[in-house]
Amino acid sequence: MRYLIQTWGCQMNTHDSEKLAGILEALGHRSADDIRSADLLLLNTCSIREKAEEKVFSHLGSLRPLKDLRPDLIIGLCGCVAQQKGEEVFRRSKLVDFVLGPRAIASLPSILEEVRSRRSRPMDREKRDDSIRYDALRAQRGPGPRAFITVMEGCNKTCTYCIVPTTRGREVSKPAEIVLREAVALSRAGYREVELLGQNVNAYRDGAIHLDGLLRRLQEVDGIRRLRFTTSHPTHLSEEIILAMRECPSVCNALHLPAQSGSDSVLERMRRGYTRRRYLDRIERLRRAVPDIGLSTDIIVGYPGETRSEFDDTLLLLRQVEFDQVYSFVYSPRPGTDAVLEGDAVKREEKECRLHELQSLQQEIQRRRNQALVGSMVEVLVDGFSRMGGSILKGRTTSNRVVNFPGTASRMGQFGSVQVKAAGPNSLEGRWIEAPRS
Ligand code: 5AD
Ligand code: SF4
Repeated sequence: MRYLIQTWGCQMNTHDSEKLAGILEALGHRSADDIRSADLLLLNTCSIREKAEEKVFSHLGSLRPLKDLRPDLIIGLCGCVAQQKGEEVFRRSKLVDFVLGPRAIASLPSILEEVRSRRSRPMDREKRDDSIRYDALRAQRGPGPRAFITVMEGCNKTCTYCIVPTTRGREVSKPAEIVLREAVALSRAGYREVELLGQNVNAYRDGAIHLDGLLRRLQEVDGIRRLRFTTSHPTHLSEEIILAMRECPSVCNALHLPAQSGSDSVLERMRRGYTRRRYLDRIERLRRAVPDIGLSTDIIVGYPGETRSEFDDTLLLLRQVEFDQVYSFVYSPRPGTDAVLEGDAVKREEKECRLHELQSLQQEIQRRRNQALVGSMVEVLVDGFSRMGGSILKGRTTSNRVVNFPGTASRMGQFGSVQVKAAGPNSLEGRWIEAPRS
């Protein structure tokens, strides 16, 4: 069969799609060039916000003419919407042939068997550890020098707005020995950067080995010159992890540390488990340990009952920290989460207004921070072509800034220095200067 996988959501989902592709390749199936030539279509979905979920169902609607034309086309719904909605998916769309949850991906082969023999519309939403047990080397990765490894899945936190503990289940970690073996093999296969994934990655634990221990072991892997990890929870950002970031040259000078809000009362209502002061304390420690660290965060705007002054505290946090990147979202009530009980008190227009205000402020901050780099030299790992098209390559600095510069495909996967010529709020532009180091 020819397969096509369409992916929504986070890096974990992107990587899950690479795993699903790996399973299909092992069965002898090959990827399709476009949807019209596909015999099997997997929708790997996200349910973090209502909009993400709606997109899936409206996309399913748009597939109707195709399925009418080719009734043999198999459509599978995977990912977090599959986990969350289960049977309801079948009721809402006649087009879906099977439903597969994110922790049950290993049953894809048997599910396909069942569908092809037309016995039923199968569903597997068991929360096993399939994605952790998955051999990272089998994943079907796209081109480029960067590879993900899922080292942890699930979340034991109880943030009131969040669906993830429901969809991804309890925390489970991949044994360090296996992660290490996989990193060595990825290095041999030519990968230069490994990003460790987990919904709450800094709670990683394999016996006595915590995330800092894992980073220190991975630091020893020849050829892996860059290590990243995401997503971190402020509460689990230990001194040991900060020290490992400082002491391990391979660990990138970057951290994504979701704050969600800058207001103590909102943080408490969200049950985040830290205060604004503690969050700022973590930032200070990080900056002391890793002076040029690139920092990014997630912010939710318009949490139930968020007052103007609580929102102002978030704006103040952004001014104080001066993040390099902020991912901001309007609060979206998710069924089954505790925050739903508080209603959706902030009016839609008000939420949109606040989001816009926050994003304008942050754009200003990012433009200023990036402008300060004009004229300097930055080291990048070239990882693809720029969205600007043509012969513009894209690389990333250790602090996770995107740098675009003219060049040819032969530079792909190389490290090199780029002189920064111009800067916008979201990326830098420059000129490749130095021949690669290795
Ligand atoms: N509404 C809006 N944003 C949400 N996020 C998580 N749940 C919700 C929700 N119900 C955001 C958080 C999280 C990011 C991945 O998505 O900021 O860190
Ligand atoms: Fe979306 Fe969260 Fe699931 Fe990732 S884990 S796909 S962000 S709901």
